Amino acid sequence: MCGIIGIIGKDQVADRLVDGLRRMEYRGYDSAGVCTVKDGALVRRRAEGKLANLVKELAAHPAPGTVGIAHTRWATHGAPTTSNAHPHATGEVALVHNGIIENFRPLREALIARGRRFESETDTEVVAHLISEQVEAGKSPQEAVEAVLPQLRGAFALAIAFRQHPDLLIGARLGSPLVVGYGEGETYLGSDALALAPLTQRIAYLEEGDWVVITRDGVRIFDRENKEVERDVTTSGVTAAAVEKGPYRHFMQKEIFEQPTVVAQTLSSYIRPLEQTVALPQMDFDLDGIDRITIVACGTSFYAGMVAKYWFETFARVPVDIDVASEFRYRDPVLQPGGLALFISQSGETADTLAALRHCKAQGQTIAVVVNVPTSSMAREADLLLPTHAGPEIGVASTKAFTCQLAVLAALAAHLALRKGKLSAAEEREIVRHLIEAPAALNAALAHDEEIAAMAHLVAPARDVLYLGRGPDYPLALEGALKLKEISYIHAEGYASGEMKHGPIALIDEAVPVIVLAPSGPLFEKTVSNMQEVMARGGKIVLISDAEGLAEAGEGSMATIEMPRVHPLIAPLVYAVPVQLLAYHVAVAKGTDVDQPRNLAKSVTVE
Ligand code: G6P
Repeated sequence: MCGIIGIIGKDQVADRLVDGLRRMEYRGYDSAGVCTVKDGALVRRRAEGKLANLVKELAAHPAPGTVGIAHTRWATHGAPTTSNAHPHATGEVALVHNGIIENFRPLREALIARGRRFESETDTEVVAHLISEQVEAGKSPQEAVEAVLPQLRGAFALAIAFRQHPDLLIGARLGSPLVVGYGEGETYLGSDALALAPLTQRIAYLEEGDWVVITRDGVRIFDRENKEVERDVTTSGVTAAAVEKGPYRHFMQKEIFEQPTVVAQTLSSYIRPLEQTVALPQMDFDLDGIDRITIVACGTSFYAGMVAKYWFETFARVPVDIDVASEFRYRDPVLQPGGLALFISQSGETADTLAALRHCKAQGQTIAVVVNVPTSSMAREADLLLPTHAGPEIGVASTKAFTCQLAVLAALAAHLALRKGKLSAAEEREIVRHLIEAPAALNAALAHDEEIAAMAHLVAPARDVLYLGRGPDYPLALEGALKLKEISYIHAEGYASGEMKHGPIALIDEAVPVIVLAPSGPLFEKTVSNMQEVMARGGKIVLISDAEGLAEAGEGSMATIEMPRVHPLIAPLVYAVPVQLLAYHVAVAKGTDVDQPRNLAKSVTVE
């Protein structure tokens, strides 16, 4: 969470820093700030709230200079006020930080005992003081940073500017991502390649423990032992256009509508349409010996994992444990030797998931990662990398990454089933045929956009909403509820339809809309019975099903949404669309900030 950027440039940097922050605002938007170095002074401008407030501040009080750093914040320590906004500075040093300094309390107390005065409640400010102490004692910027980094515990990506050195910036990373961008007579630091997209595509990804000294025309990278090292410079491929809204009103809307394309794009790396076979990108990877899978993820990615549990067990007959990442490590899970640990993440940087991955690696598990950012920490630490090709996802609420994750997981389940001898070649062809149909089915689902927009007013006034589903559509009910909570701030719960009678049914009255996900198939009748239990108590149903399902059970519903008739395997992909659209249109009707909902951040790089 939090985005950082630094530019050591030929021309003025303030506007370009702000532009970089705009591309990273999805990482957090509690406050923003810039600091430039000009004529031996640190020029700092900060504002609480969205970036627009910083833009106003800079219009009133410009920050001239050709070297600078900037930050967009998702608050962890200290309220989202201006005084807690980054950059944090002393007379000599200004810095921006993404992560958490876990030992900041003892460091702060020791600094206060040595007479340092703090102006914020943040963990970050200790780092500014520690480096400043060294500089004030006559150390060079490099010596100062080298002395301070070993004192810090926790996670950090840092960009540091020095009052007396307008010719350099220093960056460092441990646990939070940081990249170096190479320009023409300019050099950059950023939390990700996206932030630097309009500036350069030539990117080096720093490794854990690396720190870097950048000047206008040079980069020196050091590892955690302070040994100078080389890191590959790659072409990022992220263009500035990938992060524009185009004709859409919101990024989330654009990303919902991109799903047919990006799911097709993703599937093309996992199936051979002509042969009608499944093929993983790392063909030589041996999954034959895998007899247990542990899935770990957070948020929407966790729900993709829940759907996959049904698939792995049904098709491959491999038992699956699944946990949210924040719980996983701390319950000291029993991991069988020879197990596969599967991590699912859009960003590949979520701190809880990354920590769980490292825990499993240390326990000798084979690490598989389904991830959307191919250069992320998780991607780089995987044994088996299973990329999704959703492209940059900017809306904080995940949409297209989810359906691409499902596409990869369905292919993986089929592949595993084949390797385990649980799937015949004919059944494989059948599965591939259904997967190939997914993009068209997603298109058909999107065709109901206007209709869903028109029914948003039925849900928008509700205080509580229930989502019900069974089998692999139960995680979809959870995802639907999460989407609604995230962007419309309506309290929503997802429930396994059969479990409703054990509690939530007590909530039912005419003020609680109940969204029922019920594709035709083996579980349809059972779900419909549960739906009738709701109706009998005056509950207002929105039934999402196909034409057959609606004909059979649609009567008496407050509203219905018709989906194309699809095989149960791809139903979770297709039924993701109406729950996303419903949440989207309800949020629009309520006038909330769809792409940047309050209190959330897209990439959560703290525990
Ligand atoms: C945050 C985002 C969610 C996302 C979750 C996991 O909470 O707001 O949309 O599902 O993190 O992120 P990941 O990048 O690991 O999939």
